[in-house]
Amino acid sequence: MALESLRYSRGSLQVLNQLLLPRASVYEDVTNVQQGWETIRLMKVRGAPAIAIVGCLSLAVELHHSHKRKKDDLVSFILESLAYLVTSRPTAVNMARAAMELTTFVKQEAEKPDTTSESIQNSVIQWAEDMLTKDIGDNRRIGEHGAKHILQKVPNQDIVILTHCNTGSLATAGYGTALGVVRSLHAAGCLAHVYCTETRPYNQGARLTAYELVYEKIPSTLVADSMASLAMKEKAVSAVIVGADRVVANGDTANKVGTYQLAIAAKHHGIPFYVAAPTTSCDLSLEEGDKIVIEERPSQELTDVNGVRIAAPGIGVWNPAFDVTPADLITGGIITEIGVFRPHELRSALTKPMNVDCQ
Ligand code: MRU
Repeated sequence: MALESLRYSRGSLQVLNQLLLPRASVYEDVTNVQQGWETIRLMKVRGAPAIAIVGCLSLAVELHHSHKRKKDDLVSFILESLAYLVTSRPTAVNMARAAMELTTFVKQEAEKPDTTSESIQNSVIQWAEDMLTKDIGDNRRIGEHGAKHILQKVPNQDIVILTHCNTGSLATAGYGTALGVVRSLHAAGCLAHVYCTETRPYNQGARLTAYELVYEKIPSTLVADSMASLAMKEKAVSAVIVGADRVVANGDTANKVGTYQLAIAAKHHGIPFYVAAPTTSCDLSLEEGDKIVIEERPSQELTDVNGVRIAAPGIGVWNPAFDVTPADLITGGIITEIGVFRPHELRSALTKPMNVDCQ
């Protein structure tokens, strides 16, 4: 059975508390928007697509169980809930994008003379459920496009991948983005090995990606972030693949802190560097990466491990959760569900997907 970041059926949402992994696998009920917001903020669920899905499904579950409201009151409640969910974490664009699209949808529904509060409620629930289904399909397509592209570019059937953070089933509705490409390469019998970084300070690589790789029996090795350049030099790495929290119009990409240094090291070693992300992680409203708001997390996430302080008392702490990789370092391409693009092709690919050739 595949690992599941969440379990959903109409009226019921359970989210795997990723803070407890890999020691314990505990699913917790999320029954309303407030709990959805806290689950995201505390990073019980994390990863750009999973954040948006849990946010929207928390609203769907609350709507399913809520008393009947007048149409105007219902619309206000939905719009306020979406605006609130967006404040949970600022860098990943998926929640903000879902909120924007759902807000437009709800306003349009409300303006139709024949809609009732019940029909609006049901269509919002359906919208959130469709998002869940779409994400899994998108990830499988990302996996296929990415694997095909890498196999064309790398003339070697024994592919070695280095990846960062967690981008697998746990960060999405299922299958994963960068880890989805790894899964597809493995399924095609072309994957020799995966190196996953520990991903300090929060250890998404050591706790989550390593867990997924072992669970799937994919040949893999954990390295500390500080070993990544050496791994590229000595371990015949064919490509580096990471996920994204936000890809902006020029291709600059925000992802888990540490991604930027991997891209620099990959360029030095002549190793293609790929970003794998659904188009829901793309944000054409921002031209360049320096406009992306970078979340800063509590200092304890850096100074402590599992509640035990390891840093010297009194030291100052800077804890940005993400960094921005400039487009010119994304030398392999941006792998999406609609194809693989060079960073400068992204804008036209997203506005006119049918007119742009996938590489
Ligand atoms: O702070 P996190 O764990 O939410 O950060 C996650 C990442 O940076 C992922 O690489 C990104 O969201 C892509 S997940 C498919």
